[in-house]
Amino acid sequence: MATIPFFPPDLFEQDRQAMLDILFEVGTDAEQRFILGRRTAELEEALRQMTGAGHAVACSSGTGGLNLAVQALDIGPGDEVIVPAFCCQPVASSVANLGATPVFVDVDPHTMVMDPEAVERAITERTRAVMPAHVFSIMADMPKINKIAEEHGLTVIEDAAVAQGAVLDGVPSGRWGHLGVFSFFQVKAFGTAGEGGLVLTDDPELASRVRMLRNHGQDGVNRFLHHRIGQNSRFDEVIAAFQLHRLPGFEERLERRARIADYYTERFAPLAERGVTAPPAGRNGRCYYVYSLLAARRGDLRAWLTEKEIGTHVYYPVPLPEQPAFSRFGNRPGVTEQGARATDAHQPGGDSPWPGAQYASEHNLAIPIWPHLTDAQVEYIADSVCEFFD
Ligand SMILES: Cc1ncc(COP(=O)(O)O)c(C=O)c1O
Repeated sequence: MATIPFFPPDLFEQDRQAMLDILFEVGTDAEQRFILGRRTAELEEALRQMTGAGHAVACSSGTGGLNLAVQALDIGPGDEVIVPAFCCQPVASSVANLGATPVFVDVDPHTMVMDPEAVERAITERTRAVMPAHVFSIMADMPKINKIAEEHGLTVIEDAAVAQGAVLDGVPSGRWGHLGVFSFFQVKAFGTAGEGGLVLTDDPELASRVRMLRNHGQDGVNRFLHHRIGQNSRFDEVIAAFQLHRLPGFEERLERRARIADYYTERFAPLAERGVTAPPAGRNGRCYYVYSLLAARRGDLRAWLTEKEIGTHVYYPVPLPEQPAFSRFGNRPGVTEQGARATDAHQPGGDSPWPGAQYASEHNLAIPIWPHLTDAQVEYIADSVCEFFD
């Protein structure tokens, strides 16, 4: 069996000619419009319809989308936003960059997504928003988080960067929050050959703010009139055309990922007693961007798979509040910079103030799940994981 890399080099092999055609078409178009043109508008409309959102605004990346979402809510100094302690860093930087305080809460050690009870305990009079993120293959517990947010008058920014196409209780990801954000980074479900992201919302006022903020606060009609201090988070016409080209195959690629995940989960179920936890089975609220195991002997399992020429990946080995960049926010859960809350007495044991996040950081191991893996490769990967425990 040839090497199976974690990040496949031939992800867009089938689209090579299409990309070359698009480059030529956009590059030689008499319009000479390379950002925010008709192709971007067409992609926005296609994804708006696909998700059922009121508004869809394409932007520079998933990070760009989170930045726009937080800024559109006028969040700033003195405000707090509750974010998961185990996640990609933009959940925290999008808040901190505006002078507001990211308040880190723990995640469930098995699903690796935000613990709703921890959210409830972290709310203060300064809390403006909560930012649940879907992680790897599991959507956050949006029904519970939305209920808590509603009870406390908080806005929900749903980080659905990795979860485009996932559906929980009949509601698509990105549609649970007041604002939802997708990422088109290459390995994501609807990844592209470059950068891109999307903000979804049903609120016309928020949509209009996000649209303005992504292009230096301009309204799209009056050039050089800046209504707000915005950003450059614009969308590329080549990428828009490429994503429109890739859209018809999206469902099929998602289904292939889901089938691989189903197979892995079935094969790995007996390993539960031997220190490996697979993601929960089923399709509801599942996304299959990454298939991550939680392994007690992660290092050994990883070395074994490397020997078998199977690429693996460890995500977020250091929880966000333990990162140097966020050390000034990384005080114990329940205590803000302003010392507004008492230390949380409800946290389960462990040395870390974020034991779930610490556990996930120390044990997650992702194995390949990209859609063009052959059945033989998928079987080989599953066999190799199981053999380690024989
Ligand atoms: C949960 C989560 N949020 C946000 C992002 C940021 O997306 P992008 O890489 O498009 O900026 C990522 C990227 O990996 C992510 O995993």
